Amino acid sequence: MTKSPVWLSERVQWIGALDPDMRSFDIILKTPNGTTYNAYAVRGSDGVAVVDTVKAECADQFFERLEAVARYDEIKVIILNHLEPDHTGALPELMRRAPQAKLYISQSAQLMIKALLNQQDVEFTSVGTGDTISLGDRTLKFLHTPYLHWPDTQCTYLEEECILFSGDVFGCHFCDERLFNDKVGDFRFAFEYYYAHIMRPFREHVINALQLIEPLPINIIAPTHGPILRDKPTSYIQRYRDLSGQGLQSEVNADEKTLLIFYISAYGSTTQMARMIRDGAEQVAGVRASLYDMEGGDSDLFVDLVEDADGILIGSPTINGDAVKPAWDLVSSFAKINVKGKLAGAFGSFGWSGEAVRMLEDRMRGLKMRLPLDGVRIKLIPSLDELEQCRKYGQEAGEHLMGVNAPRVIDMATLLASRKELIN
Ligand code: FEO
Repeated sequence: MTKSPVWLSERVQWIGALDPDMRSFDIILKTPNGTTYNAYAVRGSDGVAVVDTVKAECADQFFERLEAVARYDEIKVIILNHLEPDHTGALPELMRRAPQAKLYISQSAQLMIKALLNQQDVEFTSVGTGDTISLGDRTLKFLHTPYLHWPDTQCTYLEEECILFSGDVFGCHFCDERLFNDKVGDFRFAFEYYYAHIMRPFREHVINALQLIEPLPINIIAPTHGPILRDKPTSYIQRYRDLSGQGLQSEVNADEKTLLIFYISAYGSTTQMARMIRDGAEQVAGVRASLYDMEGGDSDLFVDLVEDADGILIGSPTINGDAVKPAWDLVSSFAKINVKGKLAGAFGSFGWSGEAVRMLEDRMRGLKMRLPLDGVRIKLIPSLDELEQCRKYGQEAGEHLMGVNAPRVIDMATLLASRKELIN
């Protein structure tokens, strides 16, 4: 593998690393094409800036490319757009080789940098949106873009050349040594997959970041992973705008609230419960309730619905002391989106122990969803009285959605008693 730097312009070089054999990233992402850790050198009349570094295991590539474009004593500035170790692994060694270089990080990265380097006396300058540093005839300007992908993340804009060093934003895991988007293989699936897993949970922050990025003239987007976007760079910005916007126009009116009721049933009891809950919710003016049988669907299909919904109820029987897999798959898919604050609840029939409802409730509570009601658990076949209990549960869920029910004060004694009942 050649370890030559690659020129983006006369003054800007790619000095990153190729990692073609990696097959998963952060444990959860599949990377069939490996990835790249992109780092850059910018030369101004008053010195050199290094923008990001690489994973520690790839440091040799980084230093070899850096040494081909600059001496260590020329490095005036090190900018870290994001502190995750895939971009800061080579930082300690770079600081050792270029001790005069000043470190620039975002304001939200201040607490992380000491932990990252395991060092309390790290010297750095924290910067925010609009701050600039000068390299003489080149100027670097910062844009704070938190949560894309960690709270610390920022982008850096090279004003004179309209190059956006975008960190993880607009990146993807796709390794191709041809490097530029107009040269590499078709990487669209990797771009979409990366957005779905890294950026989508922070959709509101994507929208805020786009408001900073869209007004800038941009010739090149230089992300920290995957192809450098020099051909039609603004089309990738537009794609983020599309992906972070609404999907199909919802048929729900602005003054209505949506309640999704997912269920799965072995012998029909949980189905009966779900239908009665739906009927109860529909009695509340302004609630649009929908029923989905998880046996006929797939959590990937449902996740778009959940993202737009106001409330989610999940019905599962208890089998072998647990909720069933489709229910857990659905709840797992919530990690791809932001469900914080959505109304949630669980219900289900059971044969002898009935743990599923409380387990699902606990998991959704852990995701910071709002659970104002105790879920309904019914032994075997629901009686008429128990179906009425389901109807009332749906009605109360609807009332909470519409804000016509006072928030519940959690009674810890009752909560603990219900846990004890499950254990016994
Ligand atoms: Fe590429 Fe979030 O690190």
